[in-house]
Amino acid sequence: MHVFVTRQLPGAALDQLRARHSVSVWPGLLPPSPVELRRYAQRSDGLLTLLTDRVDAGLLDACPSVRVVSNYAVGFENIDIPAATARGIPVGHTPGVLTGATAQLAITLILDLLRRVSEADKAVRQGRWQTWEPAAYLGTSLSEVTLGLVGHGRIGRAVAALARSLGMRVIYTTPGNGGHSLAEVLAQSDVVSLHAPLTPQTRGMINARVLAAMRPGALLVNVARGAMVDTAALTDALRAGHLAGAGLDVTDPEPLPVGHELLTFPNVIVTPHIASATVAARTAMADLAVGNLLAGLDGQVMPHCANPAVYTRPAPTA
Ligand code: GLV
Ligand code: GLV
Repeated sequence: MHVFVTRQLPGAALDQLRARHSVSVWPGLLPPSPVELRRYAQRSDGLLTLLTDRVDAGLLDACPSVRVVSNYAVGFENIDIPAATARGIPVGHTPGVLTGATAQLAITLILDLLRRVSEADKAVRQGRWQTWEPAAYLGTSLSEVTLGLVGHGRIGRAVAALARSLGMRVIYTTPGNGGHSLAEVLAQSDVVSLHAPLTPQTRGMINARVLAAMRPGALLVNVARGAMVDTAALTDALRAGHLAGAGLDVTDPEPLPVGHELLTFPNVIVTPHIASATVAARTAMADLAVGNLLAGLDGQVMPHCANPAVYTRPAPTA
């Protein structure tokens, strides 16, 4: 069978795919355009996609040969899941293997913001540091910090464990399950960190009203999805000084245009969506994505399926 892989992947996983199927790998550094994606998909039985590839009903209808989609990510908001399920197409994703790496980047951003590391580094590079100063760049001790997690799934729980081991107090949103309401988390937290999937419910949830409900001088960290945050409202909250800083591994849009106001604030850290970017995590993601694709092409149940309902839906009446 034929498979289209929308970007070169790290490690040797694609060799396993090539051993069983004919494989085209998109050679570009930037993603294929929708037209290019469609052109390759029309000749393919399976697709191995990235978050930057949009797989919707229009694409699936135009490419009836596609029987399996495997996303190289734990998130899958780039794929229209109901449309795939309705067409009997299983969609794979890569949970678990990037939990530690993602949690570790969240903690890295939190520590950087609390101790103003990136901000101080910028000052040194710009020649603004003259001498050791008793009262400059004062940060916050971890034992004084309450960390509020929005989302308490695999990644949120891993962040909680690391944060507690460092002496922070941790609270999280999951009312009824030992958690707090969002309002309580916002009112009590010195740092708010986002760990939820992007869904219609979480899209834009960190809006002006939510930001205003955060404590004055609080910090926001986002390693989840940029579109959970209203970028203009966050920019306003930082400009007004209501928030003391933000650490953003994901933004909306992504990337932010050069010269965007968020990039001008010394107390804002922006990294290029690198939470899962360890050799181990990205290699394991490739192995899972290829495993999902191979299982799907063989007509077997995918080990990590984003739409398991596809296996229980009634057989299509032809
Ligand atoms: C990365 O953002 C992922 O969803 O794996
Ligand atoms: C600081 O450098 C100290 O020695 O306290």
